[in-house]
Amino acid sequence: MEGLRKKLLLCTTLLLQLLCLVVAGGKVPAIIVFGDSSVDAGNNNFIETVARSNFQPYGRDFQGGKPTGRFSNGRIATDFISEAFGIKPYVPAYLDPSYNISHFATGVAFASAATGYDNATSDVLSVMPLWKQLEYYKAYQKKLSTYLGEKKAHDTITKSLHIISLGTNDFLENYYAMPGRASQYTPSEYQNFLAKIAENFIHKLYGLGARKISLGGVPPMGCLPLERTTNFAGGNDCMSRYNNIALEFNDKLNKLTTKLNKELPGVRLVFSSPYDILLNVVKKPAQYGFQVASMACCATGMFEMGYACSRASLFSCMDASKYVFWDSFHTTEKTNGIIANYLVKNALAQFLH
Ligand SMILES: *[C@@H]1O[C@H](CO)[C@@H](O)[C@H](O)[C@H]1NC(C)=O
Ligand SMILES: *[C@@H]1O[C@H](CO)[C@@H](O)[C@H](O)[C@H]1NC(C)=O
Repeated sequence: MEGLRKKLLLCTTLLLQLLCLVVAGGKVPAIIVFGDSSVDAGNNNFIETVARSNFQPYGRDFQGGKPTGRFSNGRIATDFISEAFGIKPYVPAYLDPSYNISHFATGVAFASAATGYDNATSDVLSVMPLWKQLEYYKAYQKKLSTYLGEKKAHDTITKSLHIISLGTNDFLENYYAMPGRASQYTPSEYQNFLAKIAENFIHKLYGLGARKISLGGVPPMGCLPLERTTNFAGGNDCMSRYNNIALEFNDKLNKLTTKLNKELPGVRLVFSSPYDILLNVVKKPAQYGFQVASMACCATGMFEMGYACSRASLFSCMDASKYVFWDSFHTTEKTNGIIANYLVKNALAQFLH
């Protein structure tokens, strides 16, 4: 602590201080990620599911034009966040055998596209449920202890930023698409059910030593091109019903964050929501240098994602950086960078020091 303070004294300007905090502090040694396709770096390539994106044109703007299993043309938000924290420019997928614990010691993604808080959501496309991601996290901690030694591993876990990003699929792939949950719960009850799972999950992370945690909000779901395509009555505008659900659910997650910060000694839990920034980008695309916000780049841009995006990819746009959305459900690399930058500034900055 004393050493760090001395180093900081050397930093005179604000900008230099920020740089120094990253360099001198090295306060966040790793980014550890749980969630859905918003943050899956390719785990689904290694499980039996159709919820995949490890083929062209996915990844065409990634390093080497490689389709990694990220649901975008390039990097996803967590890759940008890792870079902003002075770690590496991407967070590798835990199930990818081309990486090992030496890579995962500075960042690892347990996320699985098409999953949700609700076990019934992960069942829809046979992907990794959240509890399974936690099992892998426990196995990871064991490997980390072997690799770094118990004390250093424990210290790494305490200081690492744990990012949780999911929930959209619980509503769009499950509640509003399947018969089960909608007959059991009202939308509000279902939100409470999901928030309770989030609460239990954070308790478990805390029990495993996590202290820096970011609980992600859901995006303006009604503005995803897939939803706009089906909004016939509304002239293909954003579906306000789904945006309102997102706002209600985010409000519950935000309140949960406040509550848990009081309950769990030593925890630093932040709510980090992409809702406002993404809605602003969708409403005023030109301000951010985009030309198209209502349709996606891949294929016709109206409904394709996953294998459908692959098959019709000949029709894809030439320059994805002019588009807010890459496929009908996921944002482009450029949008991901904007979201990550916003989250780092507005929610995660406190973890830089
Ligand atoms: C991890 O993989 C790298 C190659 O990418 C190799 O050099 C290194 O020895 C491996 N480390 C462990 C701990 O397996
Ligand atoms: C989800 O499934 C796991 C494993 O079967 C179980 O332990 C957990 O309680 C389930 N979660 C909910 C909310 O039902």
